[in-house]
Amino acid sequence: MTERAPGETRVSATPETVKKLTALGAQLAVESGAGVSASISDEDYASAGASVADVAQTVAGADIVLGVQAPDPALLAGVNSGAWIVAGLDPFGKRERIDAYASAGLEALAMEFMPRITRAQSMDILSSQSNLAGYKAVLAAADTYGRAFPMMMTAAGTISATKAFVMGVGVAGLQAIATARRLGAQVSATDVRSATKEQILSLGAKPIFVESVAGIEGEGSGGYATEMGEEYQKAQAELVSSHIAKQDIVITTALIPGRPAPRLVTDAQIATMKAGSVIFDLAAPQGGNVEGTVADQVVERHGVKIIGYSNTPAHLPADASALFARNLFNFLSAFWDKEAGGPVLDEEIGDAIRLTKGGKIVNARLLD
Ligand code: NAI
Repeated sequence: MTERAPGETRVSATPETVKKLTALGAQLAVESGAGVSASISDEDYASAGASVADVAQTVAGADIVLGVQAPDPALLAGVNSGAWIVAGLDPFGKRERIDAYASAGLEALAMEFMPRITRAQSMDILSSQSNLAGYKAVLAAADTYGRAFPMMMTAAGTISATKAFVMGVGVAGLQAIATARRLGAQVSATDVRSATKEQILSLGAKPIFVESVAGIEGEGSGGYATEMGEEYQKAQAELVSSHIAKQDIVITTALIPGRPAPRLVTDAQIATMKAGSVIFDLAAPQGGNVEGTVADQVVERHGVKIIGYSNTPAHLPADASALFARNLFNFLSAFWDKEAGGPVLDEEIGDAIRLTKGGKIVNARLLD
């Protein structure tokens, strides 16, 4: 289906995944124009084996609907009973859509609830999209910054290297470190999970960690952080205050699943930074890690530019679509059952991602 959310440029199937799904035995229908913003034409889909039609014809009789974001339930009237909706459904943010899928008897599968287990890595949309987002955040910050990243010795004199600080070293943060290093910056980074220290060092960056209060040992539960206690937050604020004043570029990526993004940088801390510095807040869609962030706007505070997109992967539509579509293919193909003529989920992954079934909300994370 064509994505209808404002600013969404991605598409959930590509000619490559259309071919592969067809080879599994599926019949693919693609809504006309679905791939245009990701540089994929209707003809590309047709030659890969999909039928291309309007939205009503595309969903008519479908057993599985693929999307990047949660499709409008009103557009799904023609699907088969109990059809799967497979997409990044934003279950906490778009609860009314999830309720509507339940009422319609659909089986909604939230791909962002994919468990962080080795066999599901290739199906993980959060990882594939965060990786690209981390890269794009650094490029956007570099583009806004009025100076060059690498140290340059020229006949006209020397330019010193940019200092970049990455806060939150998950998938996006690791890619941000690598990208800033490749551009020639001196990079430092921080996280609450102790396992990230080694990862920061291995990318040639400097770890900046709260030592006085214990953080999260190892990877944290399921690879994720939880909200930190008051004592930790205070120690972290002090550490950040002394470090951030010397930074030119700050990339923040800290997220806690199902909760607003933690506040990591205050207006008072921004006031200590040099004029012309740039902050890219990757957590902007979840409320921001930085005080004053407004998604999709450049906000200037104390001479520092704060930027953040509401949908960073959508700024790299072709690659983001290619990886997202492969995540969906890897998921469907891993569970494809030849006899059933479609995918059949196992308990571990099924229970984690299934939000609705048989007219009801069934996911433990939505029932709490
Ligand atoms: P995320 O997007 O949920 O959060 C980003 C980062 O922010 C995390 O590293 C988190 O620890 C950090 N953070 C949270 N609160 C913070 C605070 N107050 N101060 C500083 N940092 C804070 O995390 P993401 O990118 O989804 O990855 C989390 C982990 O899961 C990584 O270790 C990753 O390698 C692992 N992972 C495992 C997968 C698998 O095995 N299938 C797939 C994807 C990721």
